[in-house]
Amino acid sequence: MLTWKPEFDTGVEEVDHDHKRLAEGLNKLEELLNSGKGSESIPAVLAFLERYANEHFAREEACMHRMQCPTAAANVAAHAQFRQTFAAAKAKLEKPGASALIAHRVHGELVDWIKNHIMKIDMGLRR
Ligand SMILES: [Fe+2]
Repeated sequence: MLTWKPEFDTGVEEVDHDHKRLAEGLNKLEELLNSGKGSESIPAVLAFLERYANEHFAREEACMHRMQCPTAAANVAAHAQFRQTFAAAKAKLEKPGASALIAHRVHGELVDWIKNHIMKIDMGLRR
């Protein structure tokens, strides 16, 4: 469960709003993984996360560029890396018969990635 904490706020409203929606999507995914049922909804949640992450990345990269943020270039590179991480996670989660253990590990990796990314790169927006 990714519980939002004030320390995750960058202070840029549109970015923080997007991050909260991404956290909600990851929590929804966790809920579905935990329920054991409703697994037919998992691809829809993954599709939402993928689409929303890409829309968010575009907004955030434009914002960093506009603000001449010191972490702007690192952010673009990290987002490219996330797309690969996410594609690998999605493939594992959508594989028929994926074990609950793998599903939770993959979910945990996504949550850790986002938390680390916000704290190390996106915080470049905080001034
Ligand atoms: Fe970012």
